[in-house]
Amino acid sequence: MRNNRQDLVCVASRGRCRRTILPRRIARLDPFWRGALCLLLFSCLAFGQARPEKATDFSHFRPRQEMPDESFAGREACASCHVEKSRSQSHTAMGHALSIAAESAVLRSHPRMTFRAGAYSYEIVSDGRKNSYCVTDGKETISAPILYAFGNAHVAQTYVYARNGRLYEGRVSYYTAIDGLDWTIGDALNPAPSLEEAAGRDISGDEARNCFSCHGTAAVVNTKLQLDRLIPGVTCETCHGPGGSHAALMLFAPGKSMYIFNPKTLDTESLSQEFCGACHRGVDTVAMMPDLGSISNVRFQPYRLFNSRGHDPKDTRFACTACHDPHEDLKQGDTAYDAKCTTCHAPRGAEQATGQKNIAIAGQRPVLPSTGKSCPVASERCVSCHMPKVELPGAHFKFTDHRIRIARQGEAYPY
Ligand code: HEC
Ligand code: HEC
Ligand code: HEC
Ligand code: HEC
Ligand code: HEC
Ligand code: HEC
Ligand code: HEC
Repeated sequence: MRNNRQDLVCVASRGRCRRTILPRRIARLDPFWRGALCLLLFSCLAFGQARPEKATDFSHFRPRQEMPDESFAGREACASCHVEKSRSQSHTAMGHALSIAAESAVLRSHPRMTFRAGAYSYEIVSDGRKNSYCVTDGKETISAPILYAFGNAHVAQTYVYARNGRLYEGRVSYYTAIDGLDWTIGDALNPAPSLEEAAGRDISGDEARNCFSCHGTAAVVNTKLQLDRLIPGVTCETCHGPGGSHAALMLFAPGKSMYIFNPKTLDTESLSQEFCGACHRGVDTVAMMPDLGSISNVRFQPYRLFNSRGHDPKDTRFACTACHDPHEDLKQGDTAYDAKCTTCHAPRGAEQATGQKNIAIAGQRPVLPSTGKSCPVASERCVSCHMPKVELPGAHFKFTDHRIRIARQGEAYPY
């Protein structure tokens, strides 16, 4: 590895950052990125020589965790080599989990939104240049510029504004199902004790840090929020760790160490509970919540999945990534998931056929045997009955309960 690095230094110091010596995918790079990556290479080599064991740190990486000595390259840098993944990921809801106000499609297409509750009137006004959040009690008015829009509005979008140097979460949010404003979930204050309280909830400190680390990339430095560093949205480096060293090293000589985290190396339970669970909330996090998060825990898929009777959270066919590719849009429609269930639960009457498939064919890996019973009721659209949609009060949305089960009519929601 050390030899490898010295070779890289020679190449770099002779300034031979030319097309001819670079692999084809790098030759495609925009000159700006080639320049930027060359610079990164120098800095990471300087670091690398001081701390030769650094590469191993990546094996312990988890989302939302800082890696103090690593630099971020930004999503465009990854896109220059990982073309397909970048194209599809940039359209996902996760990729748009956070945006600066000027880039919110909701704000752009809704120049004026209003909401009224008791003595207070709310108004969100966007004129293309400015986005303001205003609340009045008829006598006084609070008006502040919206800085960030949280959420891709699959369900909702919540606005964060700044006032007197502090950050606030707007008391009202946009909901797609009603195409308008309503109370932000968990934030209704009826009646609000003051205009200030009616407008928004102060989230300065720990809470803002949490919001931005789940919805964005790179904003937390030495445990402090540094919004000037923020890359909005869940991007490549949110999940794979800061990629400055990787991007620079891959340019010249892909070596033994990738300097990047590949979640494929995780066992199923760590992937679901610790990796996706870092934001979607795993079983350990929910166990600490009062009342196990009550019915809101329907949004905490890793926790729900973990408690599905008969479904082993260690089985790879049951990982978050078995059903969802984080680089692609969420697949919608009940039939889209049937094959995931029927690998283990052969449809009724099809046992014979599956049995035959399980016979190993010479030279091929045998198909894993089914391990579950067959459904006595239906042979398709499994998730429509066994992963029921649950309405969360105030969310104007039915979330998919990831606790796979026989949901009987009239039965209480199992926490
Ligand atoms: C100069 C080209 C280049 C750039 C820029 C680049 N990569 Fe890579 N990356 C590669 C190559 C080459 C590999 C190894 C072959 C492969 O898996 O495609 C790789 C592999 C990976 C892997 C798999 C690692 C493993 O252990 O299997 C991940 C994850 C990854 N890159 C993420 C990123 C991210 C995130 C960025 C942006 C910060 C990025 N890459 C930027 C070239 C690049
Ligand atoms: C850094 C935090 C973070 C991590 C890690 C993370 N997610 Fe997400 N995910 C989010 C946020 C935030 C949203 C909400 C996006 C929105 O609609 O605004 C989301 C949304 C989703 C959605 C819904 C997409 C839609 O169209 O509504 C799926 C599916 C999903 N994540 C799957 C995963 C899987 C699988 C993993 C693990 C491989 C994962 N996520 C890891 C933060 C994260
Ligand atoms: C622990 C990580 C975490 C924190 C902290 C967090 N979120 Fe989220 N948020 C998520 C995930 C994951 C989702 C998507 C899961 C779901 O569907 O509920 C989400 C969904 C949302 C949505 C709905 C997006 C959609 O799909 O339409 C909004 C709005 C939102 N969050 C705003 C906020 C705001 C504002 C804060 C801070 C006050 C915050 N979140 C803090 C992880 C987090
Ligand atoms: C929400 C988390 C998340 C985001 C965001 C994300 N990835 Fe990944 N990535 C994963 C997971 C999980 C895997 C492992 C998938 C598996 O087990 O097959 C992975 C695997 C990879 C691999 C290795 C594929 C292999 O076969 O080993 C590459 C390369 C990669 N991602 C690049 C990217 C790039 C580039 C981006 C940004 C455009 C990105 N990822 C964004 C979670 C994420
Ligand atoms: C057996 C398949 C399966 C597995 C495993 C799975 N999901 Fe889902 N997930 C679904 C289905 C089905 C939907 C609903 C799709 C639709 O909207 O039609 C969904 C929807 C979601 C959504 C969107 C919000 C909602 O309630 O509709 C998020 C976020 C999500 N899954 C995250 C995860 C995470 C995180 C994991 C890992 C703990 C996971 N899922 C594991 C099948 C699965
Ligand atoms: C990795 C294999 C596996 C996968 C994938 C799987 N199951 Fe199961 N499932 C089992 C096993 C094992 C049991 C327990 C024995 C039994 O009842 O068949 C079970 C039990 C069940 C039960 C009965 C639960 C109860 O409370 O008695 C239902 C319903 C069910 N599964 C539906 C599904 C659906 C729907 C899917 C797809 C979203 C699915 N399963 C995916 C293996 C699996
Ligand atoms: C229309 C709703 C519906 C659909 C669709 C459906 N099921 Fe079921 N399923 C049920 C009901 C209801 C039961 C409980 C039957 C009973 O115990 O009377 C059940 C029972 C089961 C059981 C437990 C069987 C046992 O003997 O304990 C499994 C496993 C199962 N379903 C899997 C599936 C799979 C896999 C699919 C898709 C191929 C599917 N179901 C589609 C309603 C449905």
